Amino acid sequence: MDAKARNCLLQHREALEKDIKTSYIMDYMISDGVLTVSEEEKVKNEPTRQQKAAMLIKMILKKDNYCYISFYKALLQEGYKDLAALLHGGIPVLSSSNGKDSLVGVTSYVKTVLCEGGVPQRPVVFVTRKKLVHAIRQKLLKLDGEPGWVTIYGMAGCGKSVLAAEAVRDHTLLEGCFPGGVHWLSVGKQDKSGLLMKLQNLCTRLDQDESFSQRLPLNIEEAKDRLRILMLRKHPRFSSCSVFNWCTFT
Ligand SMILES: Nc1ncnc2c1ncn2[C@@H]1O[C@H](COP(=O)(O)OP(=O)(O)OP(=O)(O)O)[C@@H](O)[C@H]1O
Ligand SMILES: [Mg+2]
Repeated sequence: MDAKARNCLLQHREALEKDIKTSYIMDYMISDGVLTVSEEEKVKNEPTRQQKAAMLIKMILKKDNYCYISFYKALLQEGYKDLAALLHGGIPVLSSSNGKDSLVGVTSYVKTVLCEGGVPQRPVVFVTRKKLVHAIRQKLLKLDGEPGWVTIYGMAGCGKSVLAAEAVRDHTLLEGCFPGGVHWLSVGKQDKSGLLMKLQNLCTRLDQDESFSQRLPLNIEEAKDRLRILMLRKHPRFSSCSVFNWCTFT
């Protein structure tokens, strides 16, 4: 952590320890990936509210700039505006090149791209799974503009979709692997009419300016043909790697 940030935290340590309730603040910091669940447990094991706060601050002091910023944001989020204001002067400047996804990777560009593509947001209580997210990102980056898929598989409900959404929540990865954007499709179990509707929606999304056809495909075969042409001509993977480098199966 920068000296400026550290000094600011030390300077206002007493006020922070006196006032903050750690539980929601820690949820926020865990979802930012700057605090672990076992560290949270350690704080929770302290007997009083004030001792919990003191333990949390002791931990933050040993951590980096990202942790300081996450703590600052958590204070703002949880209604400690006055305390956050005390820490404002110590906010360090972050470099965007070292891949701290939770705080640096999620830029407004990322938010816009994911929102446009219908990628779900994080669950309210979010557990980071850094190793898995990192592994998926590495696989995506390895595609390096070539056609390909990264498939995430596992038991129903084990968190595949949340992981997939998290993997693309990163500025560098989106720019490098998905310059044409991301399209999130939840297919699930469908009968033929449900499947046709999904395919029609996809055709509409991939042909927003209706340059290929102005009417929706009428059956699944036609929809498949339309998608094939759209993929090849309008979203060629070789040139832009724009869509469907991967998908998840719900
Ligand atoms: N990292 C996480 N942090 C917090 N909650 C999570 C996390 N991952 C999954 N969950 C919870 O588990 C639920 C199921 O996760 P998800 O939809 O990702 O599972 P899935 O493997 O895609 O399921 P399915 O096989 O049904 O498609 C989520 O709605 C969320 O409540
Ligand atoms: Mg799923």
